[in-house]
Amino acid sequence: MGYEMAGRLARGGADVLVWNRTKEKAKPLEKYGAKVADELAELASRDIVFCMVSTWKDVKQVVENLLKKEKHVPKLLIECSSISLEGSAELREVLEKKGIRYLAAPVSGNAKVIKAGRLSFVCSGPKKSFQEALPYLKMIAPAASYVGEGELARIVKICHNVFLGVVTQSLAEITILAQKAGVPRHAFLEFMNQSVMGSTFSRYKTPAFVNLDFKVTFTPHLLRKDMDLGLDAGRKFEVPMPLASATRDLIQSMIGQGWTEQDFATLLLQQAEASGLKLKPENVEVGDGLA
Ligand SMILES: NC(=O)c1ccc[n+]([C@@H]2O[C@H](COP(=O)([O-])OP(=O)(O)OC[C@H]3O[C@@H](n4cnc5c(N)ncnc54)[C@H](OP(=O)(O)O)[C@@H]3O)[C@@H](O)[C@H]2O)c1
Repeated sequence: MGYEMAGRLARGGADVLVWNRTKEKAKPLEKYGAKVADELAELASRDIVFCMVSTWKDVKQVVENLLKKEKHVPKLLIECSSISLEGSAELREVLEKKGIRYLAAPVSGNAKVIKAGRLSFVCSGPKKSFQEALPYLKMIAPAASYVGEGELARIVKICHNVFLGVVTQSLAEITILAQKAGVPRHAFLEFMNQSVMGSTFSRYKTPAFVNLDFKVTFTPHLLRKDMDLGLDAGRKFEVPMPLASATRDLIQSMIGQGWTEQDFATLLLQQAEASGLKLKPENVEVGDGLA
């Protein structure tokens, strides 16, 4: 995600300095005019720093290392990873003490969606920070919604990803049901995608479901993290989430079976196995709706 975001900033004309823990992965960004830093702390002298890593623990570690020299601090930090409300609030406190403005700006869409120019940001924090960030957010994504002060963007993103998990599991169940009754997956999904129930998401997951291309877009571990964030929030706000609970455990079973390195859409394979069906790629050309 971070790679594609930085690529769009650099191609959009921003003066970009990138740091990634595994430096070689960032190197190809040089072809778009981005510079690649050896040390994370080099980014501290920049006006705006975007952060896109994995969990709250990773964000905390990265921000501590970013600010460890304290000689320079950025004016604004835009944190885009999917993290908890509590982690986000802790980060805001740390940054505000150092006089750094902070925008919580998680995103909807995967790396391919960024490439297709279809990513969306959901942002919260001081309105002034949002306005300052907006020209850069717009280089990365056409859509950036401001939902209010504090950590509100985090709960919006958590709700979004709980829906992602539940919808994917449901799509896997009905696709396998239709197939077991005799309908090829491509024919079933073509109908679904054109029906009122079809969506940008069902369309872009169709190639994976039809041709079993599970090249990772989002890992099962990261999806489990987001389901757990949703269930934690459900407990905090006293909201029952029966579908999210069941889906979380199905993702856990998939991880337990060792399906961890491919895309989370392998939920389809697990569903097929549970239904006594051995899936084969259909080798039918299907669009992802993103072109
Ligand atoms: N993929 C999606 O569809 C999607 C969509 C929306 C939101 N998100 C969220 O966006 C975030 C990134 O997701 P992703 O799919 O891009 O994950 P990813 O492919 O696993 O990449 C994670 C990135 O974070 C870096 N990283 C992780 N832990 C680190 C640490 N402790 N210190 C320094 N760097 C660290 C990794 O560096 P290395 O390269 O060195 O490993 C890598 O650059 C996650 O919070 C995820 O939930 C993902």
